[in-house]
Amino acid sequence: MTFRLTNTAKTYPDGTRALLSTKLTVKNGEIVSLLGPSGCGKTTLLRIIAGLETPDLGSDIWFDEDNVTSLPVERRNVGMVFQSYALFPNMSVRANIGYGLKMQKLSKPEIETRVSEVLEMCQLQKFSARAVNALSGGQRQRVALARAIAPRPRLLLLDEPLSALDASLRESLRDELAVLLREFNITAIFVTHDQDEAMAIADRVAVMSNGRIVQSGTPEELYRHPNSAFVAGFVGNAMRLDGKCTGSVLTLEGGGLRLPGEGSGNNVFVRAEDVRIDDNGSLCGQVETITFLGTHYRIGIKGITPNLLTSIFAGQSAPKVGQSVKVAIKPEALILLPAGEI
Ligand SMILES: Nc1ncnc2c1ncn2[C@@H]1O[C@H](COP(=O)(O)OP(=O)(O)OP(=O)(O)O)[C@@H](O)[C@H]1O
Ligand SMILES: [Mg+2]
Repeated sequence: MTFRLTNTAKTYPDGTRALLSTKLTVKNGEIVSLLGPSGCGKTTLLRIIAGLETPDLGSDIWFDEDNVTSLPVERRNVGMVFQSYALFPNMSVRANIGYGLKMQKLSKPEIETRVSEVLEMCQLQKFSARAVNALSGGQRQRVALARAIAPRPRLLLLDEPLSALDASLRESLRDELAVLLREFNITAIFVTHDQDEAMAIADRVAVMSNGRIVQSGTPEELYRHPNSAFVAGFVGNAMRLDGKCTGSVLTLEGGGLRLPGEGSGNNVFVRAEDVRIDDNGSLCGQVETITFLGTHYRIGIKGITPNLLTSIFAGQSAPKVGQSVKVAIKPEALILLPAGEI
C-alpha cells in the first residue's frame, strides 16, 4: 500500500499547533521513521494517520487511491504498536493475538491458522498459552507486535515501541523488527526520538522539529547532507565550529581552517570522527576530558571551539588530560550550511 498525506495539520482545542502543514509519502513496503525530540508532534502525526485524531480542515490522507481523511479508525485497517503494550493482561498470548481477528469476524479455523502463523513469525510459539502478565517486557512487546500484524494491516504504525526496554534487548528487538518488517513486506511508520534506532530500522527518515518535517531522506543522505544545523546536530551529533569566516578561511580560537567553499557566519559543522589528533594539524588545543567507552576513548578538547570532541580506538595510546595537542580536520569533512539557519 502506498500511503500519502498532504497539507495535514493539527491544532488541538486549546490552540496548541502540534502539527503544521505537513506532507509525507510512504511507498509500498517502505519503512519510514519519524525522528524528532520530545514534543515535536510525532505521536500527533501517527494518531492522525491511524484515525485516532481528527486533523484540521483541508488535511488530506490517502491509502493508495482511497481518501481516508474522514474514515474512522476501525475502517482504516492499520496496525498499531505503542510504547505501553496495551495488551489484555489476563488473556493468553494466543487470545491477545486473535482478538483483532475475532473483531474482523474471521471464522474460528481461520483465526487459529493466522494466529499460529504470527506466533511463529514472532517466535512466540512456546508462550502461546501463557497469560500476558506472566511475560517479560520484551516478550510482551513481541506479543503487541504479533497482535498488530495478525489482521494483515495495510499500514503498521509503531510509536516508540522499544523505549520501555533495556538497552541490549532494545537493540536485538530492533534488529529482529527490521528483518521481520522487510521479510513480510510490511509498509510501516516508526516513531522514535533515538537516531540510532531510526537509522537502523528505516529505509527513509523524516526528521521533525516543532510540528514540521524539516528534512527527509535515507539515513546516509541525512548524515552526509543535512539541510540545517538542527538536522546536523540531531542526526550524527555534528558540532558547530564557532569562529569567523573570511572567504574560504575559518578562524577559530586555536588556529585557522581552510573551508571547501565560501563560508558564512557560524555555520560550519564537523563530526567527531572527522576530528583527528595529528602532529601536522593546523589547530592547537588541550585535552580536557577522556572517557573510556569500551571500543574507544572519547576525548574532549578545549581551546579550539567550545565542546570539540574526537575519539580514538581503545588500542591506541591515549593522550593525557591537560596535554597540548595538534588537531587536524580535512576541509572535505566540513559541513557548510546556509547562513541564518537555526
Ligand atoms: N490533547 C492535547 N491537547 C493539547 N496539546 C496536546 C495534546 N496532545 C499533545 N499536545 C501537544 O502537542 C505537541 C506535540 O505532542 P506529541 O505527543 O505529538 O509529541 P511527540 O513528538 O510524540 O513527543 P514525545 O517524544 O515526548 O512522545 C506537544 O506540545 C504536546 O504538548
Ligand atoms: Mg510521542
